[in-house]
Amino acid sequence: MKYRKLGKTGLEVSVIGVGTWQFGGEWGRAYRQDEVDAILDRAAEHGINLIDTAECYGDHVSEALIGDYLSRRDRSRWIVATKFGHHFHGFMDRTWDSSLTGVEAQLEKSLRALRTDVVDLYQFHSGSDEDFQRPELWTMLQRQKALGKVRHLGISIASKGGPLQAEQAQRAGAEVLQVVYNRLERRAERDFFPSAREHGLGILARVPLASGFLSGKYVNFKSFPANDARSTFDQDKFQRWVSEVEEIRKMEVPAGVAMSQWALAWCLKNPLVSAVIPGSRDVGQLEANADAVKLVEG
Ligand SMILES: NC(=O)c1ccc[n+]([C@@H]2O[C@H](COP(=O)([O-])OP(=O)(O)OC[C@H]3O[C@@H](n4cnc5c(N)ncnc54)[C@H](OP(=O)(O)O)[C@@H]3O)[C@@H](O)[C@H]2O)c1
Repeated sequence: MKYRKLGKTGLEVSVIGVGTWQFGGEWGRAYRQDEVDAILDRAAEHGINLIDTAECYGDHVSEALIGDYLSRRDRSRWIVATKFGHHFHGFMDRTWDSSLTGVEAQLEKSLRALRTDVVDLYQFHSGSDEDFQRPELWTMLQRQKALGKVRHLGISIASKGGPLQAEQAQRAGAEVLQVVYNRLERRAERDFFPSAREHGLGILARVPLASGFLSGKYVNFKSFPANDARSTFDQDKFQRWVSEVEEIRKMEVPAGVAMSQWALAWCLKNPLVSAVIPGSRDVGQLEANADAVKLVEG
């Protein structure tokens, strides 16, 4: 594995992390504990030390599966990132709550589910600029840091979010940005990376495989099953991606290289990106994603 500094946090993260929205049960199937154990054990064997989860991947379901795992392993080797801002009600059904008491309660639930005393990175989860620009929210979060419940603060910027949260991250006390960044979606380079460079913020690249499309495997894509989160995304965009991916495969991916691995390494060519956090459906995908490190320079 290779490791990079996560901005000024002092954390050294593996360049390949584990995205765990899938564990929450909205990607076509529920997960058993032994399946999660196998994925995370294999990740650890590869030297991966970064897990990204959230309060609303199921009602703290992904966190609870991770927490059960951590309770039986060495918690201290992992950097655990989770998020706040939502209540989960069912498949792709959430309400936003960034009230001070609401977030405090969410943090307690996350700590309990993760079976840990401290969250290493606590991220504002795709909230609006209006909700972001409330100094009292960030004051309360600083208090959680002082209490030792949170180590570092971050902002997971909404997929349609503009540059404001990145520009004001430092003032809010956030040290890390989690942004959509992959070969098909490069807006982060314009909207978020300049602030990251200026303020020394760490960047986590999420959706690095463009929801799986950059694996190149959806050649005859029609649709995702109704119980897969991706069935609720922009389907026209997916259709466009199928042909764009074919073009990229022909023009940019070297012969003999797995496109998914190439796509992860592509994100990491930018030294501002500390880590990619692909979601792995199973041990096979985790293995392939971890091996992408062989294509990463620096
Ligand atoms: N707002 C937010 O903060 C936010 C939003 C989205 C995601 N995230 C985080 O970012 C993580 C990653 O994003 P994502 O899971 O949405 O998208 P992604 O990582 O771009 O794509 C994940 C999908 O790619 C496919 N895949 C993964 N590895 C593969 C491999 N080696 N070969 C072939 N196919 C492979 C799988 O699709 P199949 O299931 O079809 O096999 C998998 O479900 C999430 O898990 C979550 O932790 C955060």
